Amino acid sequence: DESQPAMMAKKQDARAPIYNLIVVGLSGTEKEKGQCGVGKSCFCNRYVRPSADDFYLDHTSVLSTSDFGGRVVNNDHFLFWGEVSRVFEEGPECRMHVVEQTEFIDDQTFQPHRSTAMQPYIKRAAGTKLSSAEKLMYFCTDQLGLEQDFEQKQMPEGKLQVDGFLLCVDVSRGMNRNFDDQLKFVTNLYGHISKTKKPIVLVLTKCDEGVERYIKDAHTFGITKKSLPVVETSARSNINVDLAFLTLVQLIDKGRGKPKIIPYFEALKLQ
Ligand code: GTP
Ligand code: MG
Repeated sequence: DESQPAMMAKKQDARAPIYNLIVVGLSGTEKEKGQCGVGKSCFCNRYVRPSADDFYLDHTSVLSTSDFGGRVVNNDHFLFWGEVSRVFEEGPECRMHVVEQTEFIDDQTFQPHRSTAMQPYIKRAAGTKLSSAEKLMYFCTDQLGLEQDFEQKQMPEGKLQVDGFLLCVDVSRGMNRNFDDQLKFVTNLYGHISKTKKPIVLVLTKCDEGVERYIKDAHTFGITKKSLPVVETSARSNINVDLAFLTLVQLIDKGRGKPKIIPYFEALKLQ
């Protein structure tokens, strides 16, 4: 039967979908986010390339015009972190693309770089179709301007259909950033991404330096927003990063087993 191989190929494709997962959270100029970011890049880095040698704490968003126009950033305000494959709890293999929505700042004017889509962050980050011609996978800040010295992997051509969001909240003391202002921003951002009807997981970042009141307020926020799952993570200590992604994948594909959400301090003890 000649139709057999084609059918089998089709079946295999159906078994291994690729989920497009978007990491969002407060971003912008120093006025909005304070002296340091909320931890989106570190969270992506730890998930996509978990080994100590491939983990960087410093992923600056202040770029020269030429780095912004290079093939990694590609004049977009988002980064393609690459494709990940994981097997969760002996289930079927799971493939994912990870994208970070951020805001790149011009190192001369300290204003956001101009790009073709000049929408405010909270609208842009809620987009459900992403594309960028010949955009390269991002590794680290040192790669910018030295693309040929790094492995060159392209973001898939055509439109990436977004499957779910990881909404980050930094629960550390931050550097001259007000937590309640961050929560206001996150509330606005949530308003936009929830309109897409895609699953959302609330990710508490930097729990290794977490402030009790902020952690509590973030959980309260999660409960009031249609009981968002809340995962307490630390990219630096490598705690619960996989769990956050797995929780989102389970919301997208209900056929997968539901992971047990473990608080930061319990996960730390288990490590
Ligand atoms: P933008 O993309 O510029 O909006 O920032 P971001 O959200 O990507 O933040 P980024 O991941 O660059 O983190 C900013 C800084 O926070 C890092 O340089 C680290 O110093 C710190 N940081 C990130 N993750 C952790 C963490 O898990 N624990 C602690 N203690 N600090 C962290
Ligand atoms: Mg970043």
